[in-house]
Amino acid sequence: MCGIVAYIGEREAYPIIIKGLKRLEYRGYDSAGVALLNNGALNLYKKQGKVANLEAFTEDKDRGGSAGIGHTRWATHGEPNDINSHPHASSDGEIAMIHNGIIENYDSLKRELQRKGYSFKSETDTEVLTILVEDIYKNSDISLAEALRLALQQVVGAYAIVLISRKNPRQLIAARKSSPLVVGIGKDNDFFCASDATPIVEYTKKVVYMEDEEIAVLDLDKGLKLYSIDDVAKTPYIQELELHLEALEKEGYDHFMLKEIHEQPRSITDCFRGRLNADEAWVKLGGIKDYEEKIANANRIIMIACGTSWHACLVGEYLFEDLARINVEVEYASEFRYRNPIINEDDIVIAISQSGETADTLAALELAKSKGATILGICNVVGSSISRITDAGSYTHAGPEIGVASTKAFTAQVTVLTLMALSLAKRKGTISDSTFRTLLSELEAIPSKVQEILDTNDKIKFISEQYQHASNALYLGRGSSFPVALEGALKLKEISYIHAEGYPAAEMKHGPIALIDEEMPVFVIATQGTSYEKVVSNIQEVKARKGKIIAVVTEGDETVKGIADHVIEIPETDEQLVPLLSTIPFQLLSYHIAVMRGCNVDQPRNLAKSVTVE
Ligand code: G6P
Repeated sequence: MCGIVAYIGEREAYPIIIKGLKRLEYRGYDSAGVALLNNGALNLYKKQGKVANLEAFTEDKDRGGSAGIGHTRWATHGEPNDINSHPHASSDGEIAMIHNGIIENYDSLKRELQRKGYSFKSETDTEVLTILVEDIYKNSDISLAEALRLALQQVVGAYAIVLISRKNPRQLIAARKSSPLVVGIGKDNDFFCASDATPIVEYTKKVVYMEDEEIAVLDLDKGLKLYSIDDVAKTPYIQELELHLEALEKEGYDHFMLKEIHEQPRSITDCFRGRLNADEAWVKLGGIKDYEEKIANANRIIMIACGTSWHACLVGEYLFEDLARINVEVEYASEFRYRNPIINEDDIVIAISQSGETADTLAALELAKSKGATILGICNVVGSSISRITDAGSYTHAGPEIGVASTKAFTAQVTVLTLMALSLAKRKGTISDSTFRTLLSELEAIPSKVQEILDTNDKIKFISEQYQHASNALYLGRGSSFPVALEGALKLKEISYIHAEGYPAAEMKHGPIALIDEEMPVFVIATQGTSYEKVVSNIQEVKARKGKIIAVVTEGDETVKGIADHVIEIPETDEQLVPLLSTIPFQLLSYHIAVMRGCNVDQPRNLAKSVTVE
């Protein structure tokens, strides 16, 4: 959470920073601020709300200068008002800092500084760190970077920070621990720094992903210097970015979420491209090939994630168990890490994360690693923290996902899990050749089937109109459609603020059925397959209580059509692959309902896309 951008060079810093902050708004949008160095002055502007508010606020101010830092905030310490916004200045106004993360021991540091006579304007942990640096800096004759290093040695917590100071106008200082930070090396001896590469990509493709407990000095005279918090000099590892600018634009869609929903035929194809061939009957995931034998022989696999990625894990559980006959346990990363879990060296732990930065998932992986387990990652963001700490992994190749509600990342995660399960099944001999071939060709056909569903958008929009005023909604599914029900409910609640719950269809009788009346829309996945008849019975139970049924059915279904209030048909596919299709109508339904309710679809209230705090 929180996005940070910084620039130092010959260009005007403000436009670069503002544009970058807009790209990073997915990380939080409670407030925004900048600090700019211009002609010896350190100008600091900050405003509650989105970056657009900050722009309006600074219109008549001095926005000049070719060095600056900017921040978009997801509040942790202190309410999201102007004062608590970043950047925070030292008490003498010489230094300003932006920060993403949490300083856990900020209270004791603050009390110590108060004893020394400092006072604080905000309630934030970041101001404490800024003043701690100030205190060390002004009471010694060391450099500012050294003062920051000494300050960080006293800090417990997570941080990605950038410091700017009046006395060192040709230098920015950055540091990271647990929160991500990328340094861009510009073509004109200039430097960029940001939470991810999206604010940097249009200026340079040369980047350095900072490692934990590293400090970087971006100096216009001395170049980029990198060293550890223990003061050991390090050689920057410069990488070439593969990100393309077009991927960061809406390209004519009203919202990123809608664009990303519509991108799925392409993103799923990108995900399996080069990894399967139905004609030649093979599937391969290069990133994990050296670990496949170990995974295939594992007694169990633990899958860990948060949010939508956790739902992908649940789909993965069905796929791995059914196809490859491997025992899978799915865990919320946040629960797993604090539960003293039993992990040993034979265990395989797979983390799934779109951003690759989710703090709980990262910490859970570190725990598993410390106990000797093999740790694998399925991430979307290339170069992200999870992809770097894991032993091996597979990228989802879905392209940047900017809408806070995850859509194309989910289907790409499920695609990777399907490929993994098929590959393991083949290796273990738990799948017949004919089923293997059928599943591969069915998987290849998924993108065009997703397109067919997207083409029914008008009908889905019409259904959305009928339920836009609902206060509650229930989502039901059985087997691997159960996680799709959970995901459908999550999509609706996170962007339209309608209370929604996902349930295994049969469990409805054990509680939720009490909620059903004529006001309650019940979204059911009733596609052809093992549990079809059982789900039809569950639908009857809802109808008997006057609930409204919106059913996702297999094309040509007549039975459910006769009972449900609305049906959304999806093309036929193998039962194992249904989640890749049945989730699409739910994404569109949530999207349309949220738009009709006037909600901010891409940036729902209180949420952030990359949750880098616990
Ligand atoms: C946040 C996002 C969700 C996402 C979850 C896990 O809650 O809003 O869309 O599913 O974090 O994020 P990750 O990047 O680890 O998949």
